[in-house]
Amino acid sequence: MSKMRFLKQSLFVIMLMAMASSCNYDFIEMPEPDPIDPTDTISFKVTIAPIFSEGSKCTACHSTGATAPDLTPDKAYRAIVPALINTNDPESSAIYWFAHPQSETHAWKKYSQNEANIILGWIKQGAQNN
Ligand code: HEC
Repeated sequence: MSKMRFLKQSLFVIMLMAMASSCNYDFIEMPEPDPIDPTDTISFKVTIAPIFSEGSKCTACHSTGATAPDLTPDKAYRAIVPALINTNDPESSAIYWFAHPQSETHAWKKYSQNEANIILGWIKQGAQNN
């Protein structure tokens, strides 16, 4: 086999492997929180903070010392309450609408519809540090 031909074949195999492995990544899905029951109290610690940090969905960029707000689990509450919350008009809270799936802002990363509903529910319940 000529050297050139060997190189071409090796490249082809590497490309195939890359394609096969990139397909695998498409199937990794982030865990979705369960849909909310409006009568349940939504816990910041148990339900809200993980929306930001699981799979580094938000904390990939919003971590300590990086882009504000700091959404890492220990810092998220102080970073968003009260600055990004309006309990008098929950839909106008920046932490809700800025990454809302239907918003025109923040195109690179959005909540799922379910995550947005949960965030809104928590704000409507008073945005407690619970
Ligand atoms: C790829 C990086 C990246 C990721 C991931 C990301 N953001 Fe952002 N976010 C930014 C940047 C950059 C800004 C500032 C620029 C702007 O205002 O559009 C910003 C701004 C914001 C703001 C506005 C802050 C303010 O003071 O007005 C909020 C709220 C926000 N992000 C929430 C989130 C949430 C919630 C997630 C996860 C669903 C998330 N971001 C994921 C990069 C990111």
